[in-house]
Amino acid sequence: MIRLRKLARAASLLTTPLAPEDILSLFNPVFSARQLRGVVTRVVPETADSATIFFRPGRGWQAHLAGQWARIGVELDGVRHWRSYSLSAPAGQDPAITVTDMGAVSGALVRGTKPGDVLFLAPPQGDFVLPEHPRPLLMLTAGSGITPVMSMIRTLVPHRPDSDVVLIHTARTAADTIFREELAELADQFPNFRVTHWFTGEQGRLDFTSAADLDRLCPDWRQRAAYACGPEGFLDDAETLWEAEAAEATEAPSAVEGSLTIERFSTKLAGGEGHDGGLVTFEASDREVEADGDTPLLDVGEDAGILMPSGCRMGICHSCLIPLRAGHVRDLRTDEVHGEPGQLIQTCVSAAAGPVNLDL
Ligand SMILES: Cc1cc2nc3c(=O)[nH]c(=O)nc-3n(C[C@H](O)[C@H](O)[C@H](O)COP(=O)(O)OP(=O)(O)OC[C@H]3O[C@@H](n4cnc5c(N)ncnc54)[C@H](O)[C@@H]3O)c2cc1C
Ligand code: FES
Repeated sequence: MIRLRKLARAASLLTTPLAPEDILSLFNPVFSARQLRGVVTRVVPETADSATIFFRPGRGWQAHLAGQWARIGVELDGVRHWRSYSLSAPAGQDPAITVTDMGAVSGALVRGTKPGDVLFLAPPQGDFVLPEHPRPLLMLTAGSGITPVMSMIRTLVPHRPDSDVVLIHTARTAADTIFREELAELADQFPNFRVTHWFTGEQGRLDFTSAADLDRLCPDWRQRAAYACGPEGFLDDAETLWEAEAAEATEAPSAVEGSLTIERFSTKLAGGEGHDGGLVTFEASDREVEADGDTPLLDVGEDAGILMPSGCRMGICHSCLIPLRAGHVRDLRTDEVHGEPGQLIQTCVSAAAGPVNLDL
């Protein structure tokens, strides 16, 4: 590290107008005094539309806990886009993300990434992590929702062979199932780890409107700590089932005892519909855009070509905070209108409620 600093000082004497860290980054792509970066070490295709990208992070990265996620920045046509991805590697190993192609950024990651590429990074975060005290677990996952749970399984199962873990994973077909072979190998090797695959292409949706499917697939599900990750409908239904079972618990002692912990990759923004928007002024960028009342200001800014800070795009990471200069915004999750000059607003879940001035 001291050598790097000396090199930076020497570089600063020799170089202008490039900053020393720019010169150092030519030799070491993950060196940056300003922005955490990682260099891609390996790309492994998983299914026809998903791949795992392993990377070696630079200084400033913190080791992840199994189940956590990180913001990953990718440059497309000279614009840096940030998205969140769960870290699928086990805790204690170099990080990896497993990405499913479903849009511009994920598509570029899955199809265009190669060893040696540089990713922009933010440190791992999130509280969808393994419980501190060992207890029987039920993992309910769908599609790419397997990624944080895979990190948990890889961390727990081989190191605690006594741990009792049931995974119920749904995907459209066997060919769409990420990590299928590895899961089968783990289940063969560790009898306390049981996997059930549910192929929606053949069996239809796993039905959480009653407990019947779960009772059949995992009879003791009510006694397990459950972790779920998947599309919104899947998680909403699971949440409703657990709530209904918990409500019964007071009358029936055999009802649900285990908790349900959920990780969402996206959120439904219900508010805003039918409300008026207004003129949005991005003061520092000297841009004015007419916006409706239900489009997040993050999208309004990006569509206007403004470099907007962002991360999870669903109101959980606070990476998109921007000071409001004037006007009011509507929180698209709650429909609540608020706004004081100087207040920091989350642009990913806020829409214009009349004219708005932003300090960006
Ligand atoms: C905490 C967290 C962890 C995540 N972990 C992963 C992960 O491990 N692997 C992974 O592939 N993705 C993960 N995501 C989703 C990821 O951040 C991006 O949203 C996703 O890759 C799509 O980005 P995009 O720019 O390619 O698509 P966009 O251009 O943003 O969207 C393209 C289209 O897909 C829809 N869409 C976007 N995201 C989803 C979604 N998750 N489910 C269904 N439709 C969607 C959009 O509404 C839009 O219609 C995670 C998200 C969060 C918040
Ligand atoms: S981008 Fe994460 S809270 Fe807005």
